[in-house]
Amino acid sequence: MREGHCLKNITEIHEPTFKQYELSGWSGKAKFYHDYAGEITREAVQFLMAAADFAPESRLLDVACGPGYGAGYATQRGAHAIGVDLAPGMVAEASRNFPGTEFREGDAEALPFDDNIFDTVTCAFGLMHFADPDRAIAEVFRVLKPGGRYIFAVWSAPDKHDFFGLVMRAIETFGTLAVSLPPAPPFFRFSDHQECERALVAAGFRAVEVKELPLQWQPQSPADLLAFLEKSSVRMAMILEKQTPEALAKIHRYILESGQQYQRDAAYRLNWPAVMAVASKPD
Ligand SMILES: C[S@@+](CC[C@H](N)C(=O)[O-])C[C@H]1O[C@@H](n2cnc3c(N)ncnc32)[C@H](O)[C@@H]1O
Repeated sequence: MREGHCLKNITEIHEPTFKQYELSGWSGKAKFYHDYAGEITREAVQFLMAAADFAPESRLLDVACGPGYGAGYATQRGAHAIGVDLAPGMVAEASRNFPGTEFREGDAEALPFDDNIFDTVTCAFGLMHFADPDRAIAEVFRVLKPGGRYIFAVWSAPDKHDFFGLVMRAIETFGTLAVSLPPAPPFFRFSDHQECERALVAAGFRAVEVKELPLQWQPQSPADLLAFLEKSSVRMAMILEKQTPEALAKIHRYILESGQQYQRDAAYRLNWPAVMAVASKPD
């Protein structure tokens, strides 16, 4: 019994946690992410900032800022904005992209800020990467001023999302999703509108509104879909790394061939919708 307990501890020490994978994965992929995924998330950030409707001189925090789009945009429009991200490589990328904006390393689950100091908090495509998203929502509530606004976005579920639908079909058909990875919350939990509302209300937020953002991505070719998977994702890339070489070859071939269905004249176009939630901290 006692020996088993010690062995469990040894395993815990040597196996990286989900958070450690996220940190090192995003740090190493920051530049590629900016080149591939940034095109879509920059568009989503416009919707988040419109919903934020912040006043000039107000204080805005962008959590899981990645390459800096949210805080950079808000600074350009007169806010006192700051971006925070777990991955040092992302913070460096954000600082290069937006030299006039402050970026800081920090964990969404333990924000390095005092209570009640921000008018607005945004988080674009961060929640599904946190080990404890409810803790992260509670942290936003803590740092927001009474009356402050929280806006987050996540990707829509695979049944609505061309890319995630294609990738999940490929893995389920030719490989397996049952690979050994550190425990992590479900990636598509907040794609469910009711779940967004439930989690926000449970944290104390009110006036919750959830809507779908009809985004699209226009890759140059289906090969860009594979590049996106390998270079601009962390959890999906890890699931692919765990497939057998034979399964991986079939998954790649399926994505390249099925990707052809998204050709529209000279371009490729995929529906890439997102879910955006807006909520207020009561006065
Ligand atoms: C998909 S990227 C989104 C980046 C950016 N907001 C955008 O819309 O392009 C997810 C980001 O979450 C960050 N992240 C993951 N876990 C985090 C945590 N616990 N605290 C803060 N940031 C975290 C990653 O480092 C990464 O930059």
